[in-house]
Amino acid sequence: MPRRHLTINGRAETLDVPDHATLLEVLRDRLHLAGAKPACERGECGACTVLLDDRPAYACLALAAACEGRRIVTVEGLGDDHPVPAAFARHDAAQCGYCTPGQVMAATALLAADPAPSDDAIVRAMSGNLCRCGTYPRIKAALRELADAGHGVPPR
Ligand code: FES
Repeated sequence: MPRRHLTINGRAETLDVPDHATLLEVLRDRLHLAGAKPACERGECGACTVLLDDRPAYACLALAAACEGRRIVTVEGLGDDHPVPAAFARHDAAQCGYCTPGQVMAATALLAADPAPSDDAIVRAMSGNLCRCGTYPRIKAALRELADAGHGVPPR
């Protein structure tokens, strides 16, 4: 089995990973990083969103082998004091919570790239992350608060 070198949440990981393994499988099954969630597993819901080189990516569609040499950040890598999960908590922007890690990662990517996005930019950036509980207004309010502060957020 090929040996892969992955950089995840700032840590170098060396693992034997088959060519067909997805990043989501490696994160959850091999490294026990369970923040990225399996749901549709075909790139439609965003529950598995992580950052690849600071951009949001669906971990269910990414082959782990193709992620060598890239900077991978999961929700666990944001740490306890990151402003995006804190804003989600202040605005009660989760109901069942299953999609929340993916939502947080998509929001983090947006605010790291654009500290003061418009409402349209927020809706566009979050459109790849579905929430079956319908917490969209509260998610948007959390992002609006951070955007109005305008100081941006670190990607990790
Ligand atoms: Fe990856 Fe739905 S589980 S997009």
